[in-house]
Amino acid sequence: MTVNSFTSVSLHPPLVLFCADNRADTFSAVMSSHRFTVSILSEQQEAVSQRFALIGPQDTLYSTLNCGMGLGGIPYLKDSLAYLDCAVDNVVQAGDHHIIVGLVEHLELLNPGRPLMYFQSQYYHPGTLPPD
Ligand SMILES: Cc1cc2nc3c(=O)[nH]c(=O)nc-3n(C[C@H](O)[C@H](O)[C@H](O)COP(=O)(O)O)c2cc1C
Repeated sequence: MTVNSFTSVSLHPPLVLFCADNRADTFSAVMSSHRFTVSILSEQQEAVSQRFALIGPQDTLYSTLNCGMGLGGIPYLKDSLAYLDCAVDNVVQAGDHHIIVGLVEHLELLNPGRPLMYFQSQYYHPGTLPPD
């Protein structure tokens, strides 16, 4: 799924987190596999971001994208800027979301480029300022 709640937490050990809606399929999947990958999208991947934000069955989601297989068989997006491969370190219930903390076991820079940005419910490209 698409998330913008992703953030770094700790350097030693390397920990990151994201917040997952309790109803998201991704939340159940992460709870059963105890692993997740994070693909950092480039400014060319707005459509990919929108696609992973869609609700409903996504059987063909990965088969039509250029994917690699991370540790434990969790896919990642090869056309993204970078990916992180994480083992679940901690899960904290927080309202209608859970905070999922992951230990980064592998990090790979995949492609040069600029990141996709999302701010005030809109996508922005670096260099363009959001309106007041
Ligand atoms: C830019 C953007 C950021 C999002 N960030 C989050 C997030 O941080 N946490 C979350 O639970 N859902 C977030 N969503 C919504 C999920 O991507 C969406 O609910 C998705 O359908 C969940 O997919 P799943 O049920 O297959 O896991 C975001 C959506 C967009 C477009």
